[in-house]
Formats: sequence, C-alpha cells, structure tokens
Amino acid sequence: MKKIGILFGQENTYPPAFVERVNEKAKKQGLKLMAEPVAVTKVEQGEPLDYAVIIDRISQDVPFYRAMLKNAALCGTSVINNPFWWSADEKFFNNCLAVKLGVPVPKTILLPSFANPDDTNANSFRNLKLDWDAMMNVSGFPAYMKPHSGGGWKSVYRLNDLNDFYAKHPETNQLVMLLQEEIIFDDYFRCYCLDRQDVHIMPYEPRNPHHLRYDSQIKAKGDAAKKLLATIKDYVLKLNVALGYDFNTVEFAVKDGIPYAIDFCNPAPDADIHSVGQENFDWIVEASANMAIRRAQAQEFGKDNLTWGSYVRGNFGGATPAPAKAEVKPKAEAKPKAEAKPKAEAKPKAEAKKK
Ligand SMILES: Nc1ncnc2c1ncn2[C@@H]1O[C@H](COP(=O)(O)OP(=O)(O)O)[C@@H](O)[C@H]1O
Ligand SMILES: [Mg+2]
Repeated sequence: MKKIGILFGQENTYPPAFVERVNEKAKKQGLKLMAEPVAVTKVEQGEPLDYAVIIDRISQDVPFYRAMLKNAALCGTSVINNPFWWSADEKFFNNCLAVKLGVPVPKTILLPSFANPDDTNANSFRNLKLDWDAMMNVSGFPAYMKPHSGGGWKSVYRLNDLNDFYAKHPETNQLVMLLQEEIIFDDYFRCYCLDRQDVHIMPYEPRNPHHLRYDSQIKAKGDAAKKLLATIKDYVLKLNVALGYDFNTVEFAVKDGIPYAIDFCNPAPDADIHSVGQENFDWIVEASANMAIRRAQAQEFGKDNLTWGSYVRGNFGGATPAPAKAEVKPKAEAKPKAEAKPKAEAKPKAEAKKK
C-alpha cells in the first residue's frame, strides 16, 4: 500500500478534504493507495520517509521541514513542490524568466537593500556604481515596491512618486526589493496550475477585503474574453513548465487586453474554502487528489521522482523557439571535430544556409 501524505501548518479546510477525497477515489477505483496527514517521527540522514508522495503546504515557513523534504526526495518521495527548486527560486528570477519566455511582465528592477546585510560594510558594495536616474525611469511612478522573495502581501508598497520612494525604502531595512511598474488593470485573475497541465482561472479583485477577493466577475466580454482566457491559460502553462512547479498559482493584471504576470511564485497557494469559495475549493481538492494519485502510481523508491522545470533541464520546453542564429552557433563550435572529417564539416554550413 503506497501512502500519500500532506504536510501543513495552520490550514484547517483543504488538508482534510484532500485526504478524504484521495481515500474515496482509491477505494472506489480499488487502488492500493491511501492518504493521511504526514506523521514525522524521526528525521535521519539518508533514511526515507514512508510516503510515495508528499504535498508540502508549509516548508516555506518551517526550515526544519524543508531540510526533511530534501532528504525524503533524495530517498524517492515525490515531493510536491520540488523543495530544491523552491529554495532556489525568487520573484526577480521569475520575472527574468518570463521575459525570456515571451510572457508579459511589468517593467521591473532589482534594488539593493536599504540597510547593509549583517557583517557587511561599505567595502562590500564597491562593485555598485548605481545609476539611480536610469533605475527610477524603468518603472516610472506610480510603482509597486515589494520583496524580491516574499509572499502574503508582506512589505508590499504602492508608491506615488520619488518622494514616496525615499520615504518608504528605509522601512524595508535589509530586504532586497523589486521596483515595478504599476499595471492599472481592467481585469485581475488568479490561476491555479496543477501538474503543469490543469489550469483553473479565477477572477479576483485584490482591492476587495480579503474574504471578498474571489467574489469577482470577468469584465472582458464575448470574443475578447475568450481570447484573453486562452492567452492566460497558455501563459500559465509556459511559466509552470519552465519553473517546474506542480502546485502553484499565477496572478495576472490585465491592461488593454494584455495579461501581465504579477505574482507566480506561490507554491503553497491559498486553498481555504472560506477565502476561495466553494467552487474553487472543489476544483483544487479534486484536481490535487487526481495529481497525487497519478504521481503515487508513477513513483518509484530509490529514484528521483521530483519535477524539474525545463529551465533547469537546460531548455525552455519548446516554449520559446531558439532564434535561428543560435542554432547555427553550436555547429560552428563543433569545428575542431569536423576538421578530421571534411564531409561532415560541409553539412552544417548547408543547413545553416537554408535558414
Ligand atoms: N505591478 C503591479 N501592478 C499592479 N498591482 C500590483 C503590482 N504588483 C503587486 N500588485 C498588487 O499587490 C498585490 C500583492 O503583490 P504580489 O506581487 O502578489 O505579492 P505577494 O507575493 O506578497 O502576494 C497583488 O495582488 C496586486 O494586487
Ligand atoms: Mg500575490
């Protein structure tokens, strides 16, 4: 009997519903699988945890769990999301990757922290020759300033002008911040993405009080709405295939029909029934139960059962076709070998000409 575990913190509604749904499905389909809350009795190096799959909803806040999950993954547990990638990722890199993938994002710069990190002094920053005018011109004002690695709306500022920036930046202390163009939006969406294949697009109104944010309707109409939703789905998949998240949400602010990705590093996204509402809750419980079952069936102990994004695997998963020039380059680099075989050398040149 393979076990699926869920690791969680203060959540009360999603984890038990997930466990119940997996168990119902396993029973109905006669699968040798069961789900339960993860029970941690001891964490020893190189020793597996007794789970084929673990859905991680909390290691972003509990470093002990993050280290435990890396060991579990090494021993063959399919950990959702990949704890190594989650540790490496942050919002600035997300935006950089989106630019390369052709997914629109607000114009953004990275700001060095206002206060020096511990154990550093002015000498630690001798490489910085910052051009503040050029930097401030990228986003313009109004702008959003937010941690380059963060979540839960913590330390997110809307800045009216440069004076506002000078007033608020000191408050961010040692945080490395993004300074980002404000997208004044007509529509706003949050999109669940599971297993890099199932996408659920939810209209979302960030200006409402917390409990009413999912109580929103799409404003685009007719064909424009259809086109917008298809584009959003395409962008959600592109981003998650490249980043390698199994469980994530992507937020978009839509301006003049263009969806700009705002926040797509949410590997333990809100799934509480009281905030997302019944319909969205039912979707996430069902889709995540299906994903966990698929992953448990495919999982093999002693192997790596993690998802690695196409970026880490050295390509963009076909999301952005490489420019023709780049294709020619590696062949030219292969020349030393080709020198020994004059005929082979002729081929790449002919191919390059066709393009
Ligand atoms: N560039 C932006 N343009 C418009 N609104 C933004 C922008 N960046 C952030 N916001 C608003 O601030 C909220 C919080 O920012 P977000 O990047 O999602 O941070 P967090 O990861 O803390 O949720 C967003 O849901 C959105 O309403
Ligand atoms: Mg957000």
